Amino acid sequence: MTAVTENPLAEGLERLPVRPTALVIFGATGDLAHRKLLPALYNLAHEGALPERFELVAVSRSHHADEEFQAIARESVQRFSRTKPDPAVLDGLLAEMRYIPGLFDDDSVYGDLGRALDELDDKAGYPLSRVFYLATAPQFFPIIIGELGKAGLNATAEGGASRVVIEKPFGYDLASARGLNAEVLEVFDESQVFRIDHYLGKETVQNLMAFRFANALFEPVWNRNYVDHVQITAAEDIGIEGRAGYYEGAGALRDLVQNHMLQLLALLTMEPPTAFEANRLRDEKLKVLEAIVPPDLASVPTMAMRAQYGPGGQGGVRVRGYREEDGVAPDSRTETYAALRLRISNWRWAGVPFYLRTGKRLARKITEIAVTLKPVPHLAFSQEGSLGVQPNQLVLTLQPNEGVSLRLGAKIPGTRMSIRPVNMEFLYNTAFLSQSPEAYERLIVDAMRGDATLFTRNDEIEALWGIIDPILTAWKQDTTTPIPQYPAGSQGPPEASSLLEPGHVWRRL
Ligand code: BG6
Repeated sequence: MTAVTENPLAEGLERLPVRPTALVIFGATGDLAHRKLLPALYNLAHEGALPERFELVAVSRSHHADEEFQAIARESVQRFSRTKPDPAVLDGLLAEMRYIPGLFDDDSVYGDLGRALDELDDKAGYPLSRVFYLATAPQFFPIIIGELGKAGLNATAEGGASRVVIEKPFGYDLASARGLNAEVLEVFDESQVFRIDHYLGKETVQNLMAFRFANALFEPVWNRNYVDHVQITAAEDIGIEGRAGYYEGAGALRDLVQNHMLQLLALLTMEPPTAFEANRLRDEKLKVLEAIVPPDLASVPTMAMRAQYGPGGQGGVRVRGYREEDGVAPDSRTETYAALRLRISNWRWAGVPFYLRTGKRLARKITEIAVTLKPVPHLAFSQEGSLGVQPNQLVLTLQPNEGVSLRLGAKIPGTRMSIRPVNMEFLYNTAFLSQSPEAYERLIVDAMRGDATLFTRNDEIEALWGIIDPILTAWKQDTTTPIPQYPAGSQGPPEASSLLEPGHVWRRL
């Protein structure tokens, strides 16, 4: 038996201390801060996961006094925290927080911010690490980065650190992502930059790596010899939730495929990294992403399709179609559904189709990866007894009902040899009793610790955009082909089946 050996490459990071930190949230009155960041900070405080000295500074365009913003933050936590807030912990988190109002392109805001941060250092008696979290609309990212540089806030004081966390969307297409990378890297070193994809902070997404690399069972079949095809689904039941301003310019491909879904694909198909460490993991993801050959414009219609939800019913309620939503153009061509067929040109995966689909207002919310193996080469049973034989299928459900299920063929009890499929199930919430933290909790701690393993590197983000750029271009150029409509609450457009190879069907949602 081989002993489990220590991996010095992987040691250290998880044990990195969370140094005393000042976290500066730009866009602190926005939706993301309200729904995710402030509740995540509360839960970290509640679990004692914040550093022993932690200072929160909020920057936003609206004018509020410190106390007014504290009241807003309190309400966010009360509404969106995954645990019922303990008033003493919440008071402790918010009591000292500062609010700096102002426009993001106003130099004086950064003067005020610099002074506030210096005061916090003086109070501590040593330099705090500074983490600047950009939770604003994307058009402000380059402005804020430039201003931080001008004010010298990108510099790392001895014993401290200066880091920037950048939300999605990082760029709008390949060219703009490259441009943004260049602007960011002019001010910050790559080691200071943390590009967020909140899917990477999800427990079940990390479990994908545990599953692949902590079990010997799967590696031998994890290749073109055994895998027939893979389906990755990110279906949502919600609509655009009042975000027409953003969504009209984005669409499903930019909103979910370019980032979350391609990240899932990369983690599923990359070669085993030598260590669970930022650059080793990202090197492997980059390699596999670069092996996905982007389509030429003419072949886009054969490998990608888009659709929009029309009116329909969801949970017994009539809902409007996308083109009737407030803020959406009645002739909008923005897709609320996208499906792709991708291929990975390397030894491991050549010839295996990878199907991806995502959509708003589908029958239910489910994010899953289904790996279907090839059929057995020969059936030794009678024809009648074999009727129920189906290929093995491994389904990793990322949300909700997180777990893993493996379809096997089993004998039906009785005097005859008849086979039918059965499922072997692992369910997260029965195997582990503790509640999983929210993705943002993990990612905020990692950024404070300086561990970029679960963040996207500059070359990786460009590889991700490179895959979908031709599809975006082809869809933009096509201004006449009608966009298929699917009823809200349905399985999605039947036209999506045209991407599948013979014998394949989309899994039922
Ligand atoms: C966000 C998208 O990145 O992910 C949203 O902008 C989408 O449109 C959301 O609803 C889905 O995230 P989750 O964690 O609910 O699967």
